[in-house]
Amino acid sequence: MASYQTVLLDIRDSAAYVTFNRPEKRNCMSPTLHAEMCKVLDEIDQARCKVIVITGAGDAFCAGMDLEGCFLEPFDKPELMAEINTNAFGWFTRLKNHPAVTIGKVNGWCFGGGMALAGVLDIVLAAEESTWGLSEVNFGIFPGGGTTWAYANNMPSRKKALYYALTGETFTGKQAEEMGYATRALPLAQLDAETDRVVKMLSRLGRTVLAKTKEVYEKVRWMDFEPAIDYEMAKLWELSRETNDDWVRTALASFKRREFKPGTQSYTLTRDV
Ligand code: ACO
Repeated sequence: MASYQTVLLDIRDSAAYVTFNRPEKRNCMSPTLHAEMCKVLDEIDQARCKVIVITGAGDAFCAGMDLEGCFLEPFDKPELMAEINTNAFGWFTRLKNHPAVTIGKVNGWCFGGGMALAGVLDIVLAAEESTWGLSEVNFGIFPGGGTTWAYANNMPSRKKALYYALTGETFTGKQAEEMGYATRALPLAQLDAETDRVVKMLSRLGRTVLAKTKEVYEKVRWMDFEPAIDYEMAKLWELSRETNDDWVRTALASFKRREFKPGTQSYTLTRDV
């Protein structure tokens, strides 16, 4: 595994653990961090990880874009600014479309671009004590670079979404859970254990079923019912083919022998393709 200046990467048991490591700067995302995240995702892809967990070192998850490094310093250097944006939006987009299940462990401060990051992840476990905010209006802009997309798609109530974007008022991880931005909020002291539990649960499942569950969800959300049925069935037979019909040959055969209860247990994979 390569070593990075701004990010820690640990890959074990098909899970990748990514820690933004600029606690002295509240893990805000510098140009170096953006460039390094592109390489981190290359490593994760090569290892064919099933799960990616992203968190921050110290008391911050991510204080957004590095306002000096990404805006002030390159402001009069358009080529540099373009390079920073290509890296930043490149890895954000890759992560949003990633076949692995992506989990945010929001341990503390989460502002602006940090909320964009939490917004593109599949699962967010947040410390109740964490502080979130769309602070852009506080310095005269609106949430950009995918952040408006993220809050509009994760705060289903228009009244709440616009309230927080317009006022810049902060809210807690507990409120993020109530609004649906976080999957679950729990005391900071329990965050690591709960994340480990969810990672373990996902790791037992097949790579293909996880990736296709995500893919089908994202596409079907925007479809009418009848085309959705056709698409879901086409994808189901694609999954079946790619996994050598394991769901019938192994899982349902094992259920017939009453070896497991699919409602509360998963079957033992023969091959994790
Ligand atoms: N960009 C650049 N530097 C930052 C950022 C940031 N987004 N966030 C924190 N820092 C720096 C601080 O300037 C400070 O640097 P210094 O030690 O050189 O003075 C250091 O990190 C520590 O920050 P403090 O403010 O001292 O930490 P504190 O715990 O008191 O406050 C807080 C944390 C509330 C997160 C505060 O740092 C803050 O308001 N940060 C900006 C958050 C923000 O609005 N981000 C932009 C979102 S919009 C977007 O992403 C486009």
